[in-house]
Amino acid sequence: MSSQPDTLIHSGSTHSDNRYQPPADPTFPLSFQHTSVLSREVIDALQPQSGGLYLDATFGGGGHSGAILAASGPNGQVIGLDRDLDAINNGQHLLNQFPDRLTLIHSRFAQMADVLAEKGISQVQGILMDLGVSSHQLDTAQRGFSFQQDGPLDMRMNGGQQSQDQSASDLVNTLEEKELSTIFFKYGEERHARRIARAIVQDRLQTPFTTTRQLARLIERVMPRSRKSHQRIHPATRVFQALRIAVNRELDELKTGITAALSLLAEGGRLAIISFHSLEDRLVKHTFREVATPPPPGPFPIQEITPPFRLITRKPIMADADEQKNNRRARSARLRVTERRIVEQS
Ligand SMILES: C[S@@+](CC[C@H](N)C(=O)[O-])C[C@H]1O[C@@H](n2cnc3c(N)ncnc32)[C@H](O)[C@@H]1O
Repeated sequence: MSSQPDTLIHSGSTHSDNRYQPPADPTFPLSFQHTSVLSREVIDALQPQSGGLYLDATFGGGGHSGAILAASGPNGQVIGLDRDLDAINNGQHLLNQFPDRLTLIHSRFAQMADVLAEKGISQVQGILMDLGVSSHQLDTAQRGFSFQQDGPLDMRMNGGQQSQDQSASDLVNTLEEKELSTIFFKYGEERHARRIARAIVQDRLQTPFTTTRQLARLIERVMPRSRKSHQRIHPATRVFQALRIAVNRELDELKTGITAALSLLAEGGRLAIISFHSLEDRLVKHTFREVATPPPPGPFPIQEITPPFRLITRKPIMADADEQKNNRRARSARLRVTERRIVEQS
């Protein structure tokens, strides 16, 4: 994976060569559907102020960025990052609405510190990371995330712009049975990982996997009947989640992203992370705890060291019943928040 940040920057206020080029599809902004989760809770957590600078590390459909801009008027600034160019291009409607206050950058959030440093920024007042995929990505068959619609078995969030990035079909057609089974078990918590991996390796000898429905059909075929009738979710759900996490190296991204985000927070600044599965949530929970815990006392009774961060959420914040009813994705959303302590001057 390249460590070079993408340099495509869209800003409502500049008119350089990097200016936004509208996509060919004139209905594009309308066709980009994503309902933000826990919006009110994110604003309560970040407490945006006029004059503050906020980083939305996962811009997506721009719903959270819009809420932060609205709450930080008249002078709050937002920088929105996304590794998916569709999301950045879709942001033109917000750039129009908040000229001079929003900047969009096509980048992975693991690179956020470098990307901001290039703009001369070393500190921000708040950061949001709303993990996973957008509904736009899931619902666009050609992106290959969905087992319900047929499309190329791709799943690269950046649409495969970097040629060295492997797609889901590359993994499914080339990895050893054991490697596939580990991915399905580790990232999808799929109990039938071995059975599915074995069937894939047998089937691909005849025909390599190229489409989402081809893989979904195989999983439907090999999944035990008991599992099919007892589970509310489609039998392919866990394998598709696992492949998506592997293709986009989501856990490595998150580890690097959290460290970078913590380093960018100004005193009193907050980092809010929304995760959608237990692997992500566990990582966020442990990291937030670790940086809010004082180091164990040394051999000499010196003054206790105050940790640099304090936990704002001991338990994750979940969507209320109304939001869960209206938005299925909200059911698994967990929001955790930490704050960089203000250092008292002695
Ligand atoms: C759940 S959506 C965000 C939705 C957004 N908060 C909203 O209100 O519309 C997640 C977005 O994060 C992006 N994303 C996921 N991993 C990323 C990463 N490592 N770096 C940058 N963007 C990432 C995805 O491309 C997707 O657009």
